Amino acid sequence: ADFTVLCCGGGNAAQVATGLFAVRYKTIAVSFYSDEAAKWKAALGEDDFELTIPGGKVMKSKPHDITNDPSVAAQADVILLVVPSFAHGEYFEKFAPYMKPGTIVATMPARSGGDILFNTKLGDKAKDMIFCGFETLPWACRFTEWGRKATILGTKNNILAAVTPISATKMALGKLQGLLGVNPWIQESPNNLGISLRNPGMIVHPGVMYGRWGPESWDGKPKSESPLFYQGVDEFSAKILMEMTDEVQAVCREAEKLVAGLDLKDACTLKQWYLDCYDGQMSDTSSLMRCMNTNAAYDGLKHPCKEVDGAFMPDLNYRYLAEDVPTGLCFAKGLAEIIGIPTPTVDKVVVWAQGCIGLEIMVDGKMTGKDLDKTRAPQGMGITTLAEFLKQSKISAA
Ligand code: NAI
Repeated sequence: ADFTVLCCGGGNAAQVATGLFAVRYKTIAVSFYSDEAAKWKAALGEDDFELTIPGGKVMKSKPHDITNDPSVAAQADVILLVVPSFAHGEYFEKFAPYMKPGTIVATMPARSGGDILFNTKLGDKAKDMIFCGFETLPWACRFTEWGRKATILGTKNNILAAVTPISATKMALGKLQGLLGVNPWIQESPNNLGISLRNPGMIVHPGVMYGRWGPESWDGKPKSESPLFYQGVDEFSAKILMEMTDEVQAVCREAEKLVAGLDLKDACTLKQWYLDCYDGQMSDTSSLMRCMNTNAAYDGLKHPCKEVDGAFMPDLNYRYLAEDVPTGLCFAKGLAEIIGIPTPTVDKVVVWAQGCIGLEIMVDGKMTGKDLDKTRAPQGMGITTLAEFLKQSKISAA
């Protein structure tokens, strides 16, 4: 049978990935979101999808189908999720009954704990499947005409990915590299726990939001304009970010101590992540704050705000909190609790953010809120001990 890839989602990234893969492979676009698949199919009609790549070349292709029918998973060699992470669980669940053994399921970006979510959603079936977590999306991209045309603005040179089970790494990454083409170069990361704890968005987004709009710095009054997000990081926000990243580092060191042979080298500090990913684009790398303030890639990016009577109020339900807290920070916090590492600043941010996004996650300093199952906290997936955590992560204590 033809090599078949499912591209899941319907936003910028999913349309771009579908257009790219369909040039060479049988590609089926799948969206379970509302009536998005039918709308996309109608928008494209009999025409080719047009993808403009850096340099201006236009690639034309036609997806084999655009559908909301999960049974197409039975045909899939590779399933790629290119949707915001809060939607991953629904795809895992709906595909599970149909997937054939050996299917590679990749998430880009993975955020945190996607491997464990995958294993818990698939149950017994998970042992025959291969999960791959990518640290980010390789493209900066936008659709230009919804469902019909899209543009890749830039492609990353390198991207980290980890495979569960680890034994399938070479095979899975080889196939995924073939799909993506020569760029980005997929770099092998030792395990998905490292990808989960590396997740820079879980620190940057909630940390900068707290620093600007949290109870310690904001009077609740509207602003005359939306503040700059990265360039506007001040000493107070930087202190919050440093404390959060240090707390996650403490979790990493303790995990390495408890699990012999566990390599979390890719779960670096936030500053190191900037040095790795934005080398040459920051005019001052003397501190984390200056890395963020002087990063050309972030020029002019503002806080998510809503205009009210000519003034600006923060959008505290934006995905910087609504996505990055549940599928990022909650994972790290949950693991910290399991292995007994105190995380006072992360706690402060989670407690504030849960009010903003209308979830109950922490109660009296513990991960026991009623909405934990809407997060990637291990506790929300029924995991409360290190042994169970390692089992569901398919990491064996060497
Ligand atoms: P997007 O915002 O365009 O994705 C929207 C899609 O998500 C919708 O079309 C739908 O398929 C799905 N969706 C939205 N709400 C849903 C819901 N309630 N239930 C189920 N599905 C729902 O996002 P985009 O740009 O495609 O990005 C995908 C991921 O890649 C995000 O996590 C984003 O942060 C990340 N990313 C995107 C970059 C870009 O240049 N577009 C760059 C770097 C990362």
